[in-house]
Amino acid sequence: SNPSLLILPGDGIGPEVMTEVKRIIDWFGAKRDLAFDVEEDLVGGCAYDKHGTPLHDDTMAKALQVDAVLLGAVGGPKYDNLDFSVKPERGLLRLRKEMDLYSNLRPAQCFDALADFSSLKKDIVAGLDIMIVRELTSGVYFGEPRGIFEEGNERVGINTQRYTESEIDRVARSAFELARRRNNKVCSMEKANVMESGILWREVVQKVRDTDYPDVELTHMYADNGAMQLVRAPKQFDVIVTDNLFGDILSDCAAMLTGSLGMLPSASLGAPNADGRPKALYEPVHGSAPDIAGQGKANPIACILSFAMALRYSFDQGDEAARLEAAVEKVLADGVRTADLLGEEGVTPVSTTGMGDAILA
Ligand code: NAI
Ligand code: MG
Repeated sequence: SNPSLLILPGDGIGPEVMTEVKRIIDWFGAKRDLAFDVEEDLVGGCAYDKHGTPLHDDTMAKALQVDAVLLGAVGGPKYDNLDFSVKPERGLLRLRKEMDLYSNLRPAQCFDALADFSSLKKDIVAGLDIMIVRELTSGVYFGEPRGIFEEGNERVGINTQRYTESEIDRVARSAFELARRRNNKVCSMEKANVMESGILWREVVQKVRDTDYPDVELTHMYADNGAMQLVRAPKQFDVIVTDNLFGDILSDCAAMLTGSLGMLPSASLGAPNADGRPKALYEPVHGSAPDIAGQGKANPIACILSFAMALRYSFDQGDEAARLEAAVEKVLADGVRTADLLGEEGVTPVSTTGMGDAILA
């Protein structure tokens, strides 16, 4: 049977960019003999409107059954004042939690045609292709105790950075597996100089490497230095693995090395199942962009590149992923631009559909 995909377009520009991805999925079925069984469902505000919850139990169950989930974006001003328990974001958080997606892959890749767009000098970023692996389900965002407590005559805000050996072990493995598909090079970032969790992190990552991945080159770096090096000379890195908090900050920093939010894909992976496929959710980094929703202006590339990641990491179709990425590269080199990518004078932007047309062509 065909590999299965659950598509959750979501809110705002989510459905607009996902429409282009669906055309590309159809193209692979028709032209490359690579058909998917696709189901579509609701997540976020649109699910709340219909079911009173941002993620229906049936949708959750489907997500746990399929080979991969592809998500657009959730949220919007209409839902800003909803109770926390039914906010659109809660739908996404529930997916990540119940699928146990502990490894978040954020590539930072610079397309030559967009090198002028970077916040940095062109020669620092031209040809950049790195991957940040961020631990996504533990660390200081989840550790107990947490809260705001009375202490003497004032209050104290507390969060706890907490990592077990097995949590570090599994995300390290996911980074080393990834490195084997790339250039066999991992840099692990923590603050072992001042944090106990950092000491354990460094020790466990090194042990996983020495035991099971001796072919992969591993270095360690303090995360603050890592931030500096990412901006100074990002091409020294290939795969970076780090915890939830540092990964949040470092991946946003790396993202801006390459330009627009409309270009950035991501993958969140969980434990591999019997046939080696990890539980997986693919989504663009951007949100629902209410300021441009419904106007046909959204750049679909982040969502399209997220599907390319699905081809590579869930369906073992690295060549087809490369084919899709090459089409994106070609279109950019030809000067096709959505409005968010306009820098040059005198270039007329294409619509969301126009960008999809160009990539399909
Ligand atoms: P956003 O990413 O939606 O938009 C930030 C800026 O980037 C806006 O000016 C937007 O027009 C532009 N932009 C984003 N994606 C674009 C694309 N594909 N093409 C062209 N321009 C693009 O972030 P913002 O404004 O902070 O949040 C808007 C809503 O999205 C909120 O409700 C927020 O909660 C939600 N959100 C959802 C996320 C998700 O579903 N994973 C992630 C981030 C925000
Ligand atoms: Mg962030």
